[in-house]
Amino acid sequence: MKIDGVHYRTIWWEDDAVRIIDQTLLPHELRIAALTTLDDACRAIRFMQVRGAPLIGATAAYGLALGVRADPSDAGVRHACERLLATRPTAVNLRWALERVAAGLAPVDEAARAAAALRLAGEICDEDVDLNRRIGEHALGILRGFARPDKTNVLTHCNAGWLATVDRGTATAGIYAAHDAGMSLHVWVDETRPRLQGARLTAWELGRHGVPHTVVPDGAAAHLLATGRVDVVIVGTDRTTKAGDVVNKIGTYGIALAARDNGVPFYVAAPSPSIDWTLEDGRDVPIEERSADEVLRVSGRTDRGDIAPVRIGPEGSPAANFAFDVTPARLVTGIITERGVATSEEGLREGLRRLFPER
Ligand code: MRU
Repeated sequence: MKIDGVHYRTIWWEDDAVRIIDQTLLPHELRIAALTTLDDACRAIRFMQVRGAPLIGATAAYGLALGVRADPSDAGVRHACERLLATRPTAVNLRWALERVAAGLAPVDEAARAAAALRLAGEICDEDVDLNRRIGEHALGILRGFARPDKTNVLTHCNAGWLATVDRGTATAGIYAAHDAGMSLHVWVDETRPRLQGARLTAWELGRHGVPHTVVPDGAAAHLLATGRVDVVIVGTDRTTKAGDVVNKIGTYGIALAARDNGVPFYVAAPSPSIDWTLEDGRDVPIEERSADEVLRVSGRTDRGDIAPVRIGPEGSPAANFAFDVTPARLVTGIITERGVATSEEGLREGLRRLFPER
């Protein structure tokens, strides 16, 4: 994605360090942070300087490379994998990336492991960009099918955009492709409480790319769907089971229910590293529970210009912060992968099997 004419990925290697865009400061400030140790990478994932399933995977791969730089032994690789795996539980890309890099390192001499790990992490990043490009092509075909003469209204949730991946995004890949192809689109952006990935991140990146959009409170989504203001829903996923159950940001399930009730198609953009071939039932996926503070406080730019949290709940009220929910396969119209679309007509499970016969 371009920011003020300069192309950026969300993560890259430069001058002996991993560079990331610190997403906790967006949209107010674009700050590049350097990660030089395994600890830095674990913190960046846990505290969501980087977030979004594919970017979590890419950061974990680089985190393992940083760990291996300090300790290239088998025990060092195991230790780094365990630390990184414990940072966030839901997105399966984290496990996928670590297993891939660790398997690639196993036959490599200790002296050559640091360089090999960096190369493998770089490969995961390049591959992510390519997967998203291909998802964008398939999603463009779907969006064209819903094109209206005036404009096509898409609703999305959370941030499954450029910032959630290495580049292009998953749910946004088709949106950017359609916009760039001259299709007239408008995107409803759910604000996505409590961390506001929609209002802070999706709105920012759509704006930078010139895509018309409107931020709405999460509670407005069902109303938009019920009043004919949405032609198609596209969301991302943190983990999709082989049966097509979709685990994604909290609130996704409610949108899928409202979409079904109003006959609006509900699509999920799912690069294959986010598909968990070991699981059948989405209810078996661990759902991250984060700090109550994220619900009871909100952070933003004050009139003085600094970025500060303010309390919005009464002192003493407890809060619950489930970060993800499960949308059952029966509510999903189609899963858009890099190899094509698994549809509800053929059955999501059958479609995924057709697209990935080797799994
Ligand atoms: O808690 P987050 O911000 O990491 O959650 C991100 C999401 O739920 C995204 O929708 C999902 O990772 C898909 S990203 C391509």
